[in-house]
This record gives sequence, structure tokens and C-alpha cells, in this order.
Amino acid sequence: MTQRVWQVFFTTIILGGIMNKSIDYIKEKIKNQPEIGIVLGSGLGDFADAIEDKVEIPYTEIPGFPVSTVKGHDGKLIFGQINSKEVCVMKGRIHYYEGYDIKEVVYPIEVLAGLGIKTIILTNAAGGVNTDFEPADLMIITDHINLMGKNPLIGPNDEDLGPRFPDMTDLYNKELVEVAENSAKKLGIDIKEGVYMYFTGPSYETAAEVRMARILGADAVGMSTVPEAIIARHRGLKILGISTITNMSTGILDTPLDHTEVVEVGKEVAGKFKELLKEIIEEI
Ligand code: HPA
Repeated sequence: MTQRVWQVFFTTIILGGIMNKSIDYIKEKIKNQPEIGIVLGSGLGDFADAIEDKVEIPYTEIPGFPVSTVKGHDGKLIFGQINSKEVCVMKGRIHYYEGYDIKEVVYPIEVLAGLGIKTIILTNAAGGVNTDFEPADLMIITDHINLMGKNPLIGPNDEDLGPRFPDMTDLYNKELVEVAENSAKKLGIDIKEGVYMYFTGPSYETAAEVRMARILGADAVGMSTVPEAIIARHRGLKILGISTITNMSTGILDTPLDHTEVVEVGKEVAGKFKELLKEIIEEI
């Protein structure tokens, strides 16, 4: 087989087959089809407590599903209701820096799309680049910059799933941004908005990289979300992104960055984050 034929065979037949196995396995376990997918970032796992009538499926049980190795990332899908909406929460995401292929990073999003969700809420912990931000701020993502240089759609494209060249206009859905703004207002939460720039990590950025990010138009930097948003757009999902600014990025303050602190601040804001997300889900 030529390399090209093998590539197409691998992507469509082998990966497609495994994906169907993941989807079928989950379908057998859940009671209702989810409408909204929610990916929880570092330290934000507590949100899962808000789900009613839960069905929990550990990633390790799902055929073909990658398993997150990061501290603070649990690794399960939780199905159930929030404010009577059917949701699927991904507690623990897969990061490129763990050593996974970019296709594995977005695999769970493809599975959620395959399960029939229409909307996805991507949350993350991020470093503040905009000096008007403070740790514990929440930021609605209005756009992103993919500094990683890789794209999860590289390779053969299955036109039945999405277009070869997906448009990225209003990637983060404007109506959902408005819903998030109104929800924050209603709850008296001061919410920021801005552009998220994706670095692979796992090292934090240098001070020079943070200066560059600011010059290029970023308000926050982080190590996730962007590949997921690209694949979600390919599958035609509506996307909302929310960052917790867990720290100011390198070089803004004198203190060195520490992952434990990121998780701690994530936990500190978990309360307001949970209330906001519940309100948003109600309004979607
Ligand atoms: N940089 C990248 N990723 C992050 C940061 C940061 O400062 N804080 C939380 N996630």
C-alpha cells in the first residue's frame, strides 16, 4: 500500500471503527442523549458535583479512549442533568504535552460530537497576559491564536463529518458570549473577555514569550482548548470558551509559577465558576 492509501485507510477505517466502539459503549450506559458537552480545566473538577442523576464512565473503561495523566485531572465522563439540560461533563482532558498525538487530544471531542451534542463549553486555567487582569478573574474567550503550529485536522478529511477547510469566523459563538456576559451580570460576577493563545507547554512561557503574546494580541495564555475548539468547529458544534485566570503570566510579577498554585486558585474560584456555568447552561 502506498503511504497515502495507508493513511486514508488508517484514518477512516481503523480510527473510525475504534471511534464507533467508544460511542457504542457509551450509548449502552447512558439514559439520555446529551445536548451540551462541558470540558473542565485544571482545578475546576468540582463542577461535576452540580450534575443530577449521574452516570459516570471512567476513561479507562471506554474502548479506544485516551487517559489523562495530569494531577488535578480525574479522567471520567459524567452524564446527567444540570437545570434540566442533558449534559456530558469531561472531568479531565487530554493534553498534547502529555505525549499524546494531536488526534488523541481531540478524540474525546469527536466522541461527544458523535454522541450528538450540539454545544460545547471549553473551560481552562490560563495565565493572564493582559495586565488589567488579576488571578481568580474569569475570562470569556472571544477568539484564539494557535501558536502551536499543529492542527488536529491535518490528514485525510472525512467530508461526512466536516469540511476540508473549516471557516473560523466567530469560532467562539457570539450568542453564547452574550449568554455568558448576561449570566455573569445577573450573578454580579465581573467577567473579562479576551483572546487565548495556545502554547503546548508543559514548560510555562518565558517572559519574552509573554511579551510577544501581548504584542500579538493575546490576553491570556494556556496549554489546552485550541485543538478542541478546531475539531468542534469542524463538527459544526457551537463553542463557548471560559478561562480561569489562575495566575499572571511569567514576567508580570516577580514570583515564579507553580502548578499547585494554578490548581489552588482554580479551586478558589470553583464556587463562582460553578454558579456561572449553571446559569449559562440554564440560558442556552
Ligand atoms: N501559562 C500557560 N498555561 C497556564 C498558565 C500559564 O501561565 N496558568 C495556567 N495554565
